Amino acid sequence: MSQPVLPAETLIVLHGRTTSLAIECPPDAAPLWRYWGLRLPEAFTTVPALETTRQVPSFSLDAPIPFSVFPTFGLGWFAQSALLAHRTGVDFAQRLDTCRVEWLEAGRAVAFRFNDSVARVEACVTLSMHDDVLTLSTQITNRSDDPLDVQFLAAATLPLPEHACAVHSFSGRHNAEFLAQVDLLGRAIWRKENRRGLTSHDAFPGALVEADGVTYGAQLGWSGNHVQSIEWLDDGRYQWQLGEWLAPGEVQLAPGATLNAPDVLATCAPDANGVARNFHAAIRARVTWAGGTMKPRPVHLNTWEGYYFDHDLPSLIKLADAAADIGIERFVLDDGWFHRRDDDRRGLGDWWTDARKYPDGLAPLADHVAQKGMEFGLWVEPEMVNPDSDLFRSHPDWALQLSGRPHQTARNQLVLDLTRPEVGDYLFEKIGALLETLPIGYLKWDHNRDLVAAGDGAGRSAYRGQVLAAYALFKRFRAVYPDVEIEACAGGGGRIDAGIIRHTHRFWTSDCIDAVSRAKIQPGFLSFMPPELMGSHIGTAPAHSTGRSQSMDFRAAIACQGHFGVEFDLVKLDQTERARLGQWIAFYKAHRHLLHASVWTGVAGDNLIWHAAGSEDEWIIFVYRMAPMEFRHMPPVRLPFLEGDARYTVFVTGPDGTGHAVRYNGAWLAQSGLTVPHMKAEEAIIFHGKRI
Ligand code: DGJ
Repeated sequence: MSQPVLPAETLIVLHGRTTSLAIECPPDAAPLWRYWGLRLPEAFTTVPALETTRQVPSFSLDAPIPFSVFPTFGLGWFAQSALLAHRTGVDFAQRLDTCRVEWLEAGRAVAFRFNDSVARVEACVTLSMHDDVLTLSTQITNRSDDPLDVQFLAAATLPLPEHACAVHSFSGRHNAEFLAQVDLLGRAIWRKENRRGLTSHDAFPGALVEADGVTYGAQLGWSGNHVQSIEWLDDGRYQWQLGEWLAPGEVQLAPGATLNAPDVLATCAPDANGVARNFHAAIRARVTWAGGTMKPRPVHLNTWEGYYFDHDLPSLIKLADAAADIGIERFVLDDGWFHRRDDDRRGLGDWWTDARKYPDGLAPLADHVAQKGMEFGLWVEPEMVNPDSDLFRSHPDWALQLSGRPHQTARNQLVLDLTRPEVGDYLFEKIGALLETLPIGYLKWDHNRDLVAAGDGAGRSAYRGQVLAAYALFKRFRAVYPDVEIEACAGGGGRIDAGIIRHTHRFWTSDCIDAVSRAKIQPGFLSFMPPELMGSHIGTAPAHSTGRSQSMDFRAAIACQGHFGVEFDLVKLDQTERARLGQWIAFYKAHRHLLHASVWTGVAGDNLIWHAAGSEDEWIIFVYRMAPMEFRHMPPVRLPFLEGDARYTVFVTGPDGTGHAVRYNGAWLAQSGLTVPHMKAEEAIIFHGKRI
């Protein structure tokens, strides 16, 4: 039996290089998800209308509501709604089905504008496809004369095919971020929520979903509370929603007001490395570099684990000399430099130099660093205040708080209410004064606690407003000091997301710099974010966070996966160790153009993991043995990203230089694998391959 075919103009198709999506636009109904997956041919528009392919099931609405790009509650959609809203109890059901389709960029970007004339709500969902990454953004406008209470607005509602089977999400805690969790998808809803007020260590706002030969990925560009859910639908597909998690009463839209959800990046590819590659391109496009392009990522020296709060100018000058001697390019003075900051109990908020530690201010150190040819960076934690600070004593009302509730400190600190303009002005003035007078090229911007009792002056929830005000403060600094790069840090990796990266240039991935732990954390990070934004430092042994020790070679080889830095007291190294570290720094500098290009990661047998970087034409691969050998012989390491018909010359490389070359063809490396010599536990071997 032949089915009526949809007229071409009612099927919206966006093609990427390797992916496509198709949305059906029936008259007088919200647009329907028909396809999102690997690339379809250009001409495939002989698609029957969804309605004509289905019978009305028993015990169902006579006109069932199918899965749309903006499904809503109360009028026939029974799965998660993209909107939960009401006006003191009424207008709780919406049907945003009068839809206008507007192409914003032919074949690339489209806007769906909806209207519900009964509930008097308008919505707009835009989708754009660039390099196989879909950017989705959603907004609603209250068209009533009465306010609209919004309980939830999905930033995106995405389709997953019926063969989706497992979701890989990334959870953790301080010192153990991005630990992969795998949950099987079934008929129970999969849901992950974060209510800690910032992106959190506990739940990265994104995930990967496996679906028989295709991996899907999505991530939310938001640095506050968030929720994502995957729900089975009664046609076998799954509905994936990501959005902000709103506290009760947090959003009330005044008549005529608009609520913009954060945007979502979504992509799919044959495997997780393909998803990562697509995300890396999209995240790179969000970063604004001074002068328009990224300069090679400079080697950092960060003072934190070497010095903590114990700042002493002569020692730091010596450290700067030692750092410059071995090739460090950026010297970052971490916590401990400002007024009375001898430990983590006091000082936050008093952003002027501690005159006891730095009688002539920071200039002698900053100028010395600059004279040594390094850039000077400074740690700040603008959003925080210690109760023991001049700032809090003068303005106790500036901390987020709820009347009648006691303050709850974390790391002895409270959170400033950035939604108060005077707070932003104060921070801009105090930190700006440092930026005006010192040669500061870099700020490490920290945020060391979760938000609780996050009430504004009127007792309303300020979680959302706090994130928006923080973004505004970042923007203000960036506008006036465009040459200053900013690192997003939150007790390590508590604020890593696609929202904050619009304002920053690097993430501090984790306070755990134990290389064995980092070997788990970093691949999770790299599933969503590119390597040049991943702060990865070589720390001391034993590692402060775990007490575990690894050789300098292993620590350095793991640190080479990202933006390399050194975080211990170099001055204490003996000559041999110092020379070795210098060789690693030289190795990183010589290869950063490859290390910060495309990245592939994987596992091989017998506790081997690998990390490759560069391009299909020239690559460098690190093979790490994470535990002692259990096999009698080393298994080969398959490199599936290489092209089968290419030929490669491959040689061992590293801080000692290069070994002799071996020739392989790509198919052999991809299917059979690279031969690797015996390795001890916590050892790395590096190969460099070039297409012949
Ligand atoms: C937490 C950060 O993650 C560390 O790197 C360090 O900057 C400390 N804060 C300083 O207090």
